[in-house]
Amino acid sequence: MPNFHVAIDGPAGSGKSTISKRVAEELNLIHIDTGAMYRAITYVALKEGIDLDDEQAYDFVEMVKINYTNDKIYANGEDVTEKIRSDKVTKNVSKVSSFPTVRKHLVKIQKQAANGKNVIMDGRDIGSVVLVDADLKIFLTANVEERAKRRMLELHQKGLEIDLLTVIKDIEMRDLKDSTRKASPLIIPKDAIIVDTTDYSIEDTVQVIINEIVKKETYHGKREK
Ligand code: DC
Repeated sequence: MPNFHVAIDGPAGSGKSTISKRVAEELNLIHIDTGAMYRAITYVALKEGIDLDDEQAYDFVEMVKINYTNDKIYANGEDVTEKIRSDKVTKNVSKVSSFPTVRKHLVKIQKQAANGKNVIMDGRDIGSVVLVDADLKIFLTANVEERAKRRMLELHQKGLEIDLLTVIKDIEMRDLKDSTRKASPLIIPKDAIIVDTTDYSIEDTVQVIINEIVKKETYHGKREK
């Protein structure tokens, strides 16, 4: 039965999703972007107009149906793939993802999604909480300026003008919230390999991770997802 799991964790803008997607394509793994799930819940919370600071208000998450297929994400049947990248969602997602009710629900979905499949999953707590027995754990990082430059480029490509300093501040704020929250904060799992991508291209990083995967005894080459 397929059950090879790669956990990719790291701070905002470290390239987790881009890299994971590429590795998945190369090695025929299923890619699961867990940040997109936290963003989907944030989108629904904003749409429903709940009080984002009130933990009790998050009971609704149990009812939210998240579907994740071929890099499209649906919340209660609505395609939210683009909507979850909005500035409003990005500004509020750290708060929403800090509530245990939200995390409990999504961790359950993520574990189910990986069970019996060959998966590369990226997020903040994958190696430490979701896939603690992953075959390989990678902690991707890069200095904040480089991460902000990448994010700015992404925003420019979408036609949004924003200055570097603002992006640096946003990223630092999100890093601080993600790594200091009580419920499963962003940490470096003790058995993770740290990959600093500051001076690496996407291609370099993809190759570093593929090299680590193929070294694993539990990896048996490209196979059924
Ligand atoms: O990877 P991203 O920037 O799309 O993630 C959005 C937010 O979701 C991030 O600021 C923290 C949260 N997150 C989390 O708490 N746990 C995860 N496994 C993935 C994301």
